[in-house]
Amino acid sequence: MTMQAASTEIASRTAAIIDEMKGLEGPLLPILHSIQEEFGHVPKDALPVIADGLNLSRAEVHGVVSFYHDFRAHPAGRHVLKLCQAEACQSMGSDAVAAKVKQLLGIDFHETTRDGSVTLEPVYCLGLCACSPSAMLDGEVIGRLDDEKIEEIVAEVRS
Ligand code: FES
Repeated sequence: MTMQAASTEIASRTAAIIDEMKGLEGPLLPILHSIQEEFGHVPKDALPVIADGLNLSRAEVHGVVSFYHDFRAHPAGRHVLKLCQAEACQSMGSDAVAAKVKQLLGIDFHETTRDGSVTLEPVYCLGLCACSPSAMLDGEVIGRLDDEKIEEIVAEVRS
């Protein structure tokens, strides 16, 4: 697909989502979630369509997308690894876990490895505080992260 065709396709699918949801109260977040579900991220080309559809400025839409950690500006890798950075996990060493994972993968939060295998994201409480520090790999929670588990996770996402 050419870039032009891809952006027309994004615009028309985005417009359909907006039509379906703009009657909701506070439609922006549900619309962004649907768009992310549809495309795996919130494409840049969707932003002006959302702004026009909801009568907002592009800056407002962009501000909301960048404020919420849930929204991705780029397609995710084949795996998505989320590391909990909230208080209970912090007190159990999540900073050291994050540092180790970042070093092993060679990426920072909100980045994807160059081979497209994994996207690393922070998350703020997975409801697994009793087993902190915690993570989520492709939707499955993992508790009590230690060096061994971190290495296993990294090996899994890289395989
Ligand atoms: S603070 Fe990490 S799971 Fe609750």
